[in-house]
Amino acid sequence: MESPKVHKILYGGDYNPEQWPEEVWQEDMHLLPKAHIDTVTINVFSWAKLQPSEEEYDFSELDKIMEMLKKNHFKVCLATSTAAHPAWMAKRYPDILRVDFEGRKRKFGMRHNSCPNSPTYKKYSVKLAGELAKRYKDFDHIVAWHISNEYGGECYCDNCGNAFRGWLKEKYKTIDNVNKAWNTSFWGHTFYDWDEIVPPNSLSEHFGYNRTTFQGISLDYARFNSDSLLECYKDEYKVIKEITPHIPITTNLMGLYKPLDYQKWAPYLDFISWDNYPSNDDPYSRTAMSHDLMRGLKQGMPFALMEQTPSVTNWLPYNALKRPGVIRLWSYQAVAHGADTVMFFQMRRSIGACEKYHGAVIDHAGHENTRVFRECAELGQELELLGDKLLGSRVKSDIAILFDWNNWWAIEYSAGPSADLKYQSQIHHYYQALFNENYNVDLISVNDDFDQYKLIIAPALYMVKEGVDQKLEKFVKNGGTFLTTFFSGYVDEHDLVQVGGYPGKLSELLGIWVEETDALPVDQWNEIIEQEQSYSCNLLFDIIHLKGAEAIASYGKDFYAGTPVVTKNTFGQGAAWYVGSNPEERYLSKLLKTICHDAGIKPILPASEGIEVSRRVKGESQYTFILNHNDLPKKLVLEQPYRNLLNNKEYANGEEIVLSPKDVLILENL
Ligand code: GLA
Ligand code: ZN
Repeated sequence: MESPKVHKILYGGDYNPEQWPEEVWQEDMHLLPKAHIDTVTINVFSWAKLQPSEEEYDFSELDKIMEMLKKNHFKVCLATSTAAHPAWMAKRYPDILRVDFEGRKRKFGMRHNSCPNSPTYKKYSVKLAGELAKRYKDFDHIVAWHISNEYGGECYCDNCGNAFRGWLKEKYKTIDNVNKAWNTSFWGHTFYDWDEIVPPNSLSEHFGYNRTTFQGISLDYARFNSDSLLECYKDEYKVIKEITPHIPITTNLMGLYKPLDYQKWAPYLDFISWDNYPSNDDPYSRTAMSHDLMRGLKQGMPFALMEQTPSVTNWLPYNALKRPGVIRLWSYQAVAHGADTVMFFQMRRSIGACEKYHGAVIDHAGHENTRVFRECAELGQELELLGDKLLGSRVKSDIAILFDWNNWWAIEYSAGPSADLKYQSQIHHYYQALFNENYNVDLISVNDDFDQYKLIIAPALYMVKEGVDQKLEKFVKNGGTFLTTFFSGYVDEHDLVQVGGYPGKLSELLGIWVEETDALPVDQWNEIIEQEQSYSCNLLFDIIHLKGAEAIASYGKDFYAGTPVVTKNTFGQGAAWYVGSNPEERYLSKLLKTICHDAGIKPILPASEGIEVSRRVKGESQYTFILNHNDLPKKLVLEQPYRNLLNNKEYANGEEIVLSPKDVLILENL
């Protein structure tokens, strides 16, 4: 977050003094500085306190909290509290309650629960944001606004139905265009009047959240729902911006969160912030990928790590502790991938309701003599010593992976070819192969600039939006390398198939025609044979005809044995690769290393098991992060002289170092 008020990596997180008596606030003011915490996110869920009735606002408690934080030199990320509406509001104005996917009208309860097209929600959320901005505009310890919290979910109520029809009218102008876009001549669905269109849920087109009889309408509803929530955010943004134009505004995103098209949201956030809660079995490459996706939303601008747990979550079936050193390791992982803040949920463990066993800096024990507190304090001290050194530095990459939310929705709404085809897994498969070899990778949208990259990878680019094929052709013609896979080039933005053979508009670039695709259960493998070496592949098996491309590898089995599975087409100055099945990691790693080598892309350091490497640069300075995810020490040989920013130790060229388990180095080039 670029701000004249920020001179170091901000450290802190969600703080809920409103859940505690004031004596405890005093203890917090004493304890949090001991952990070197300098920033707190407050007022995330206080709407019911701030507005006890329709006519009345009461800021007395928040005033006290703001004054106390100011006096104690804390920076504040001030939330607007609009992620959970008050009970009285739900009782008086039921339009604020959502209708769920099953068509049930919700009652008051939970959070993230307001209908985004409810006139009541729109009126009172914006009003509250405005009141807060007016009241606290002169508090110069506010470093950012945090609108609502983790926008998400869907609503299918009548207000949303009406708004959906309005959204469609604006997009399609005529009902005829809608009929064409959704191919409604199938199963006699032709619409003659806008009012005949209803939201697609399990009462209408769906037979399961991801299973729909009409992809066109479901896709448009996903877009509409994401837009509806974005409108709520934008309305609050606008009123706050008018009053405090100098304070940056964000909302906390959730990484690989499917329902919201964050690439469409990003331009309206002054900086990206997100909440990182990996599951126990998530590989750390997936966390790295999520950071890279979030960084890519604003073309590489540093982002804020808004939340992570210091120890446990409360919502997994098994809430494993973060092992010693892991708080630090994962915090620096975020920084290595472009974060300029390290924040937690939460400062103090609450005593009631569902998050009372969620990790916090201050535990139920109530004092600082805990492992978690000590680890947080050590990290806080280290971040203080780092100062502004890394702020504003950027991750630079020659490789981009294309990621597209509409494509994600379309692939997973698709009836066929395989229930096991998951967009995220495909993206991660390619990402991981590069990550393991220590290449920095950007995840970008199809609308971003391609020209700064040497290699663009687009796993399962099923939906090719208007102009993307030409952009890719230009990129390759000018010397770029492109790689795509099975289930690419099939449809346009409406999920309508491009006739003339797969991969549709990408056929010429790739120099192939895919005549058929075999989909088998994932435990049924075929072989990829390349130069007499055999590798395995599963999931989908494209049967490919060469139309100018050369076969790099072929299938080993089945009735398509001997036909191409991996192809390369020279196109202008560059090359376009196609991978027609799902290769085992060993093959992918070998293939991508060759492709990178041919494209003149070098890894940051040689690969080493369990060691993550990433690099940020600022001007002439390079900061190489080395993270040991192993439970054992690891030896590394450095290939140039460095200084470790975390302890100022210098290393000579060729020096062997031993990295302790979970340890981190941030090496500055000398
Ligand atoms: C989310 C929310 C927080 C809290 C944490 C718990 O990220 O934003 O309010 O519920 O989850 O993990
Ligand atoms: Zn609704």
